[in-house]
Amino acid sequence: MRVETPDTRTVTALAEAASAAPSLHNAQPWRFHYLRGEATFQVRASLDRTLPHSDPHGRALHMGCGAALLNLRVAAAHAGWRPVTTLLPDPYDPRLLATVELVPDGRDGTGGDPEVAALAELYPAIGNRRSSRLPFGEERVPDPVRSALRDAAETEGAQLHFPSAWHITTVLDMTQDAEGRDLAVPGRLEELAQWSETDGGPPARDFAGRLATGDHPAATDPGPPPQLALLGTAEDRTTDWVRAGQAMERVLLEATRHGLSTGLSATAMEWADLRWTDRDPLSEMGQVHAVLRFGHGPGVPATPRRPVSQVLRVENGPRHRAANPPDGTS
Ligand SMILES: Cc1cc2nc3c(=O)[nH]c(=O)nc-3n(C[C@H](O)[C@H](O)[C@H](O)COP(=O)(O)O)c2cc1C
Repeated sequence: MRVETPDTRTVTALAEAASAAPSLHNAQPWRFHYLRGEATFQVRASLDRTLPHSDPHGRALHMGCGAALLNLRVAAAHAGWRPVTTLLPDPYDPRLLATVELVPDGRDGTGGDPEVAALAELYPAIGNRRSSRLPFGEERVPDPVRSALRDAAETEGAQLHFPSAWHITTVLDMTQDAEGRDLAVPGRLEELAQWSETDGGPPARDFAGRLATGDHPAATDPGPPPQLALLGTAEDRTTDWVRAGQAMERVLLEATRHGLSTGLSATAMEWADLRWTDRDPLSEMGQVHAVLRFGHGPGVPATPRRPVSQVLRVENGPRHRAANPPDGTS
């Protein structure tokens, strides 16, 4: 049976959009294999880009790949394809985090899937989203936008919770504590420096934007508390980490679409004691995976990405089972 498949230019554009996702230290721990005979992308973990000191359990790796997967789905929808997604399809191939089969959507004039249209609306935000570490203004994110952000997380099977003022203080303390531990634990700073040098990532982890950078002096007056939200899932399995990554990116794109600046931190999640304290005892959220920051802030430049030739492999063979790539590479 002949499978309808996008042309090479579209396949490349989809991989480029996926690669624009955020990742811890900008490590970009992903690879994309496109199986033309099946019109299917594989999203794979790139094990030569792990962070053993900063991300010993692989939570951040799975979240970054989940964010890339969300971008891939958005870009596919934008190009007129319905992305039929399966998470962790092969228990014998743990590097294979997801498959995305591209099915033509709405080309026959009968109208497409509304979820595909909702994903496609997020496409322009992929190129505009940035992780900012600068201070944001005081203007409150309006309630309807907060609701839209919560809905974005829920659509991807996660929850977004805006903590109360007292809990924001706790979350900031936990984040600062974790950033401080980076200085004390051997290997962590080296890892940050290594990836920053290789890929032009961030020079330091200052999630709340309180340290001096370039043109911006350090904040002497702490001002009103930053507008933070906790992103979590009910459980804490690898599949939840991929799901959390997709939800995180969908929330960040939705926020970007509403003209907000965003930042994110998972520093405290790397420490079991801090991660548990980050949880708001009054919320039903079981497992927190990231702290997001929203507001109106100055523009920041894009962080560089690896060339698409390093992350995309296209296989032109006939239709075959996708589970194991022929040469077993990641
Ligand atoms: C799981 C995860 C954890 C992150 N943790 C932090 C953090 O603790 N502090 C921070 O400033 N940025 C953090 N980031 C943001 C990355 O540094 C950022 O995505 C990367 O440098 C690429 O930049 P961009 O998001 O502007 O494209 C994190 C990103 C991910 C996906």
